[in-house]
Amino acid sequence: MKTLPSSDVRNYFKMKYKTAVALVLLGLIVSSEALRILVCYPMTSKSHSILGHGVVNRLLEAGHEVTHITSFPRGTVLQNLREVNVSHIAKAFEQDKSSKEEFSLKNMLGKGNFAESVIFLYYVFIIHKNFLEDQNVVKLFSDPNEKFDAVILEWFFTEMNSGIPVLFDCPLIWVCSTEPHWHAFRIMDGITNPAYTLDLFTHHTLPLTFWQRAEGLYKIVKKNLQLLVFYQLEKWIYNSYYPEIAAKRGVTMPPYDDAVYNGSLMFLNAHPSIGGAMKLPQNTVNIAGYHIDKAKPLPQDLQKLMDEAKDGVIYFSMGSILQSDGMSEQMKRSLLDMFGKYKQTVIWKFESDLDDVPANVHLLKWAPQTSILAHPNLKLFITHGGQLSTAEAIHYGVPLVGMPVMADQILNMKTMAAKGFGIYITLAEDMYSDLDTAIRKVLDDKTYAEKAKELSALFHDRDMSPGKAIPYWVEYIVRNRGAPHLRSQALNVPLYQKLYLDLAVVLTIIIVLITKAVKFILVWRSKKQKEKSS
Ligand SMILES: *[C@@H]1O[C@H](CO)[C@@H](O)[C@H](O)[C@H]1NC(C)=O
Repeated sequence: MKTLPSSDVRNYFKMKYKTAVALVLLGLIVSSEALRILVCYPMTSKSHSILGHGVVNRLLEAGHEVTHITSFPRGTVLQNLREVNVSHIAKAFEQDKSSKEEFSLKNMLGKGNFAESVIFLYYVFIIHKNFLEDQNVVKLFSDPNEKFDAVILEWFFTEMNSGIPVLFDCPLIWVCSTEPHWHAFRIMDGITNPAYTLDLFTHHTLPLTFWQRAEGLYKIVKKNLQLLVFYQLEKWIYNSYYPEIAAKRGVTMPPYDDAVYNGSLMFLNAHPSIGGAMKLPQNTVNIAGYHIDKAKPLPQDLQKLMDEAKDGVIYFSMGSILQSDGMSEQMKRSLLDMFGKYKQTVIWKFESDLDDVPANVHLLKWAPQTSILAHPNLKLFITHGGQLSTAEAIHYGVPLVGMPVMADQILNMKTMAAKGFGIYITLAEDMYSDLDTAIRKVLDDKTYAEKAKELSALFHDRDMSPGKAIPYWVEYIVRNRGAPHLRSQALNVPLYQKLYLDLAVVLTIIIVLITKAVKFILVWRSKKQKEKSS
């Protein structure tokens, strides 16, 4: 047996010891850099959940530990990720069959914009209330051993969740899932000027005419009156739900107002290349496109289909909320007949089966959308115009025909048409000739595809990719303890001061006083003169 000289043994252990120390130190550095982040996406629809997973993915890639509260847990175990499932919130709505019917395409047509109604605000309120009542959520929040460095909340027409970061005594970061608009900016910088910023649910584009400007102002005033009511409801939830949990953590809740206006940062799912160039406060960051992962390879059959489509491919999808299934029989038939006449291959995301499908039309129950958009043979995307689909189209430089149905889809598609990378069509039972003309025009006229490519280049030309911006800014906010230096001073100025109503009152009083004084002097002088002359 070979024996080692004792100096070698010593060296050997010295080395081991050094490696061990180095490893421990490395571990300390890594773990001290990894932040614990809570990400909450209460909205129960698929598109919102895709945005939530996008935020989580970018944080995980940067090495952070994430707890994600979502209605669509991914179900696979990932290092550094813990998911809290709140899908029963959605089930509460599904059981109510009428509310599902309500969202079918057939029903949405000619119903006006649901998102503009009070019912919409009530719907959002109930979802968030259910979220705060969820057993797993309450359990997580009540456990004093749970600690987070930052809380990321989806902003969606309520601030009820602004109590969550207070519980963990950490900064609050909002993510606005849509183009920015006055309602979200209200809590970061104050209400934006309706003369040059659009309401999310508007049907107009900038610049506004006299009457459109008047309408914008009227709508802001009307909605703010509605909000007065909802604000009270939310405050009531805040005051009745949080204090009990806070007590278990040894925290006292500040007044609702203080929590609502305490956001450190707001990420905006927007970019000037797809939307408009808005006046932004310092603590907002454009991140549109962040949710798009590197395109995965297409399934083999689909790859073959698209590779072999020598005249190109048209892709048609109405998104996840508004399924094509919900179309009337006549609409489905007419669309199939129309698509059958094209020389292009048509891929239609359609959730069930149809008879007599033309040879060039392929129905897909589930479509790997970004991989389809990434294929060089794709010539046109017919879309409902949701924010995700619009961003994905611009990411890959694909021209559009937009058939918006509700919410921000109308504004997205109006903007798209104004920017020239597609055509806007009003979805209706009698739209076929318009739709056919639009499809042929976008396919034949090269300018649409060129514009899409040009905007795509702008979309990608940034100081930092949106996927990198998310961890960068979250780390920045944590490192700088909420970065209060970035907060807008405008939040400290009440509306009457912004509008100089106090000055107007003072000036009015002065003018009235001067007029009175002048009148008095004139009367007094003429009296004097009369006395003299008599
Ligand atoms: C506001 O946020 C800062 C930074 O995260 C935090 O220190 C402070 O306690 C918060 N204030 C309220 C009233 O929540």
